[in-house]
Amino acid sequence: MSLNRRSFLRNAGLAAAGTQIPLLRTFAQERRLGPNDQIHVALIGAGGRGQSITKSALTLPNVKLLAVADCYDGRLAHSKEMWGNDLQTTKDYNEILKRSDIDAVIIGTPDHWHRKVAIDAMAAGKDVYCEKPMIHEYADGPLMIDAAKKYNRVIQIGSQRVSSMIYIKAKELLAAGAIGKLNLVQGHWDRNSAQGAWEYTVPLDANEQTCDWPRFQGAAPKHAWDPERFFQWRKYKDYGTGVAGDLFVHLFSGTHFITGTNGPSRAYATGGLRYWKDGRDVPDVLLGLYDYGDWNLELRVNFVDGGEESEGFTFVGTEGSMEITSRGVIVNKVPREKGPGMSIGSFTNEMQARLKADYAQKHAEDAAARAALIGTGVERYMAPAGYDDTADHFRTFFNCMRTRQQPTENAVFGYRAAGAALLSLLSMEKGTVVHWDADAMKLKS
Ligand SMILES: NC(=O)c1ccc[n+]([C@@H]2O[C@H](COP(=O)([O-])OP(=O)(O)OC[C@H]3O[C@@H](n4cnc5c(N)ncnc54)[C@H](O)[C@@H]3O)[C@@H](O)[C@H]2O)c1
Repeated sequence: MSLNRRSFLRNAGLAAAGTQIPLLRTFAQERRLGPNDQIHVALIGAGGRGQSITKSALTLPNVKLLAVADCYDGRLAHSKEMWGNDLQTTKDYNEILKRSDIDAVIIGTPDHWHRKVAIDAMAAGKDVYCEKPMIHEYADGPLMIDAAKKYNRVIQIGSQRVSSMIYIKAKELLAAGAIGKLNLVQGHWDRNSAQGAWEYTVPLDANEQTCDWPRFQGAAPKHAWDPERFFQWRKYKDYGTGVAGDLFVHLFSGTHFITGTNGPSRAYATGGLRYWKDGRDVPDVLLGLYDYGDWNLELRVNFVDGGEESEGFTFVGTEGSMEITSRGVIVNKVPREKGPGMSIGSFTNEMQARLKADYAQKHAEDAAARAALIGTGVERYMAPAGYDDTADHFRTFFNCMRTRQQPTENAVFGYRAAGAALLSLLSMEKGTVVHWDADAMKLKS
């Protein structure tokens, strides 16, 4: 079975409308955007992700990019190559925030800058699209939530799956009972390449003249110039949170969106640095277990075995399972046998025959129901080839900017997802189970 884009989008609109929260008051200096006014955006942090999501944003109507800030000359120069010489480029994002003609900023900096850039931007009257994970440390969450309220700004965190037609379909299927009652969610990434393990290319002209190292470091602990720290920052806790904030957070966002839950109450994680002993201080194997009331989440990242790359995300219910991929949702219905089954091989032939007849009579309905499902058990809902969920995430963001509604993936949602993801590192470091009050968004001792 396949759903076309129009029906997927209709579903997306309905789901978003049901969960948006109206903003309470109007920011005094905002440029009021009419439905057809052009939205002016700027990009802060123009690395791999910043450039690619800005391209997605610019596929939408009435959106114009006016400025880009980054700490590396080569990325500012490439921004002009892509978006023209009229683009303002600067190493100091404050130059961008001063402009009254910019409505929103897209934040693609490393994680340790998310809080400061987002709060500075909101204080300057800009709406914010901030890449995931929203936080680098727990203290960031409440500050960003408060700033969105104080300055009355729209803020959306960049887990694009939350606006994806695939995830909206999965949410609808789960609510409709497609796999029965949810028992378990499993996710894994087996990444067996150097790029998968964040060994990103350092450009040949990387030096302290082309890279603004003090600005990149910001408030992080100070180190002598180190191009690997600059271009491969995910390997160091000073700037990111390893696989927790890079990969686990996506599955927390997806899981929370699909199930409508706020987060786990308890987490245990373990792992270690097994293969990529290149000076990094984060694990390359991480295994996490999380309690969500009456179901559990199990996550694994493995950068180490050198074999096939594989990635999977599966919801397991009482009546089947639902696999979610970047292309779609696949439901495997395996209706439970309602009867107890038989263990009769050790009995006499006559007793076996009598028990079989007795069972067939008592459980005829069950057998008929299971037989009727043969050949109908797999349902596929595939997105169109080349589907760009990031463009849909920006569509949500820009709609919210016009209507002054908070999106589903607002600062509270973003904090709950990233807060849950960070439990993994905390648990691994402490060597204990850790507890989280997902409603209050607080660690419990
Ligand atoms: N949603 C997703 O699927 C997804 C995918 C990849 C990355 N991300 C997120 O995007 C963010 C960026 O990741 P990336 O892979 O693009 O990293 P990157 O290293 O390629 O880019 C980061 C850029 O930020 C710049 N920067 C650092 N400090 C800055 C500052 N103070 N002002 C302006 N620019 C600054 C750096 O110079 C660099 O060019 C991270 O938070 C990451 O988690 C999200």
